[in-house]
Parts: sequence; C-alpha cells; structure tokens
Amino acid sequence: MRGKFYITTPIYYVNDTPHIGHAYTTIAADILARYNRLRGREVFFLTGTDEHGQKVEKAAEEKGQTPKKHADLMVKNFRDLWLKLNITNDAFIRTTDTEHIKTVQEILQRLWDKGEIEKKAYSGWYCIPDERFWTEKEVIDGNCPECSRPVEHIEEENYFFLMSRYQERLIRYIEDNPSYILPETRKNEVLGFLKNNKLGDLCISRPKQRLSWGIPLPFDENFVTYVWFDALVNYYSATRYLVTQEDWWPATHHLVGKDILTTHAVYWSIMLMSLGLSLPENIFAHGWWTVNGKKMSKSLGNVVDPNEIVNKYGTDAFRYFLFREVTFGLDGDFSEQAVIKRINTDLANDLGNLLSRTLTMIEKYFEGIIPTPPPYDVNGPVDVIRELQLKNFVENIYADFDLYMEKLSFGDALDKLWNTIDDANRLIEDEAPWNLWKTNNIEKLSGVLYTLAEALRIIAVYVYPFMPDAAQEIWQQLGIDEKIGSTMNIVWGGLKAGQKIRKGTHLFPRIKIGKRMT
Ligand code: MSP
Repeated sequence: MRGKFYITTPIYYVNDTPHIGHAYTTIAADILARYNRLRGREVFFLTGTDEHGQKVEKAAEEKGQTPKKHADLMVKNFRDLWLKLNITNDAFIRTTDTEHIKTVQEILQRLWDKGEIEKKAYSGWYCIPDERFWTEKEVIDGNCPECSRPVEHIEEENYFFLMSRYQERLIRYIEDNPSYILPETRKNEVLGFLKNNKLGDLCISRPKQRLSWGIPLPFDENFVTYVWFDALVNYYSATRYLVTQEDWWPATHHLVGKDILTTHAVYWSIMLMSLGLSLPENIFAHGWWTVNGKKMSKSLGNVVDPNEIVNKYGTDAFRYFLFREVTFGLDGDFSEQAVIKRINTDLANDLGNLLSRTLTMIEKYFEGIIPTPPPYDVNGPVDVIRELQLKNFVENIYADFDLYMEKLSFGDALDKLWNTIDDANRLIEDEAPWNLWKTNNIEKLSGVLYTLAEALRIIAVYVYPFMPDAAQEIWQQLGIDEKIGSTMNIVWGGLKAGQKIRKGTHLFPRIKIGKRMT
C-alpha cells in the first residue's frame, strides 16, 4: 500500500449543467478519498472543468457570451453541486488556468522536439459533441458511432501525435499490469481493440480559423491544441501547481465513464509513455445510468438533476443509493421509486431503526447513560454468546471491507456492512431487552445495549465515506463529541460506558409513497 493516494474524476465540459453522470463519478472519488484519509493515507483528490473546444465555444456563442465568460458562469454550477454533495476535493482545476496552459504548451514543445509530432494533410469526420474524429469506415449513415449524432466532414492540414509507434508497447504494458485497466471486461475490450486494429496517429490540432477557443501550439501559432490533448494533461499539470509538494504524480486511480475509456487508456497512456512519465496505477471505467429504463438525454427531457434529488431525499441517501443499487463498473437504472425503496428499507428500517431502538432502550432502562457491559467471557457469570457473536461480526468487517474498497467494489463493501447491521437488529429480537428489563436481568441487559451501541459507533466509521453526515449524526446521538472521519477508530471498546447519549430525531424518516415525483 502506498502512503499517498491521488484520485481524479474526469474534468467536465462546461457547456452543460451537471447531471447524475457527473455526480456519480465525483461521489465515487469522494468515497475513496474519504476512506483513504480514514486509513491514514495522504490524499490528493482532484476534479475540475474542461473549458476549451468546439462544444464549449458553440454553447457560449448560442448564449451570446465569450467562451471564458460562459465558462466562469458554468463552473459555478459544478462547484455548488460539489458543496451540496459533500465532496471533499482538494483542488479544482480549470483548463483555462494559466499554469495548466503553460504545462500543456511545455509538453507539446517537448513532444515536438522529440519528433513525436508531425504535420500532415487530413480528411475525416468530426463529431462535435464527442470532440472526436472518425474514419469513413467508422461512421454509421453519416452519424457518430459513439453517440449517433451527425458528424461533419473536414479536410485540412493538421499536427499529429505519432501514437501508432506505441501500439505494441501499450499492449504489453496492459498485459503486464493486470489492474491497470479495470473492470476486467473493459480491459479486455481495450486489448481486443488494440490487437485487432491498426492504431492511427492522433490529430492533435485544429486550425485557428476553424476553432479559436483552445491552447495555441507553441511551435505554430496558427493552430490550437485538440481539446482532449489539453484535457488529459490536467491530471499531471495539477500536480505542478495545485499541490504543496511536487511529487504527486502518478495518480492512483483515474475514475472515468466507459465512454471515455479509450481516450484515457490509449491516448493518455501513450502520451505519458512518450513523455517518459509514469503511468497511473489504475484507470477504472464505470457504467452508465439510464433513467426509468431509458437512455438519459436532453431531447427526452429525462436528465436527472442531482440538485432536485438531493433537495427531496437528502445528500446521504443519494450518495448511498448510487453505490448500493448498482455494482460499480456496470450500467444501472435510476428511478425515484428505487431511491425511495432503498431509503425505506436499508436506511430507515435497518440502520435508522437500529440507532433509534438502541437509544430509546438506553434512555428507558439506563436514563440515557451507556451501561457497563459484563466481560465478553463465555465462561463468565452472564450468558454473552449472542453479544460476543455481534462483537466478532463487527471486528471482522475490516478485512473484507478494506479489500472491497481497494477493488472499488462499493456494493460489496456496503453488503458486508449491512449484514452486520442485520445481525445487530437480530440481536435485539433474539435477546428481547424488554423481557430482560421485566425479569430484572440488568447485567445481561447492560451487555446487550452496550454491544449494540458500540457496534453502532464502529458501523458509523464504515458508513462515513458513503454518508458522512449520517455517520456524524450517529456519533453525535451516541454522545461522542469527536468529529468522525479523521481516524479509523474501530477497535472494540472505544465507546465509554457512563457517557450520556443525545437521542435525536430519526436518521432517515420513512418516505411516504404518495410523495414521489415519478
Ligand atoms: N471533458 C470530458 C472528459 C475529459 S477528462 C480528461 C468529458 N466531459 S463530460 O462533461 O462529458 O463528462 C463526462 C463524464 O460523465 C464521463 O465520465 C461520462 O461517462 C459521465 N456520464 C455522462 N453521462 C452518464 C450517464 N448517463 N451515466 C453515468 N455517467 C455518465 O467527457
């Protein structure tokens, strides 16, 4: 395990307002950033915006603004959403930052000097929304093979990054480093593509008369850099001016959606190889969300605005839903019905009720004071077998949970946690504290309630990366003053007997079905 953890999201185009897809990757990165900070690693979490290119230029034009003014306004939507979603990014990069521009130009100059860039005549089909060229063969009935929107025919002289030279080397690298591209199925797709096609050279310039909104090539002022070349460099350029220490490169994980895997796995990897820089440890491609079974699109009017969902159901529930509902890496379907179901079952019933039942009983039977448990000794005077079992469950969360988080298997990590929550709820049913009270079995009652409260304290630590506010609230209600999330405080016995609890409102009130929107 490296002591340093550098995680990135894609940088988002500012031509549009943020939607669930943007929120998804950014929350995933936040979960990992929070978890790794908990683990005591030094974390650098980077997100930002991609502000050059034809798409942004066009959007600005339509609004009658300069691209920079337009970008300045649109960036706020992202920054505000990240605040609302409790995102703890350490830096926010904008490709219009002067320092970023300088790095891109330095890199271009280095590659030019090394003979890795060449000027050639070019003709091809361009998809503006994807900012990508396609060959005649790839285009389907005049439309982009990726997004099905019409492509434009373009003929011009351009500069090319001589990427094809690196095809064999990249294949070998991916084969020698099995966790470089994940999930495995995506890695196999990339390898299949590289093995069955001849890699072309990458057109990395646009003539200024066609597109002015970009970074000028340092060796030819009549051209600007292709937006993807500029954008990919952000991961590296940020380590040169947005951090205090110099040595943050390479990244631990680049999180991306499956649609932009090629640009990362092929273009970016080769750019780094040709620059003599290390490659990131891992590129992870997640799946796409559909909405009520349909592709999300502006024309269908079904684009999910995370602001709306959060206003209705809360940040934590939204964060939880996205990672419990669908295996990270696979596609998934979003519906408010599914969100409500998760809230009512997992959050209200399982976790929320566990807290409220436990605290209600501590109030009722111990005047709100955490009781002292008898020894967890099966040969002791009190039967503690069930309590010991829950204690063992809680102590054993770590091994699997950590493995899952390392593999970005968020759903499995949450399953593991919820199994323990279920077991804690079962302990209440099995031992029926109300009967222990009636029969005046106070020692056993103390053991059961302490075990539940301590299990909750530790469960909250694991909940924290996913639902930071709920986790803090659990600690607050247990009477713990400390701020959760600074250390991995999971050793059994940390909860002080004699401490006064502060029972509050229910963590996740049930949603009445009539209230839903769709
Ligand atoms: N600017 C480029 C990325 C450059 S990174 C060096 C870009 N920007 S984007 O604004 O289009 O954001 C794309 C991200 O949102 C991608 O990771 C993409 O997969 C993700 N999503 C867009 N729609 C999505 C869904 N419906 N579901 C999940 N993620 C989706 O591409």
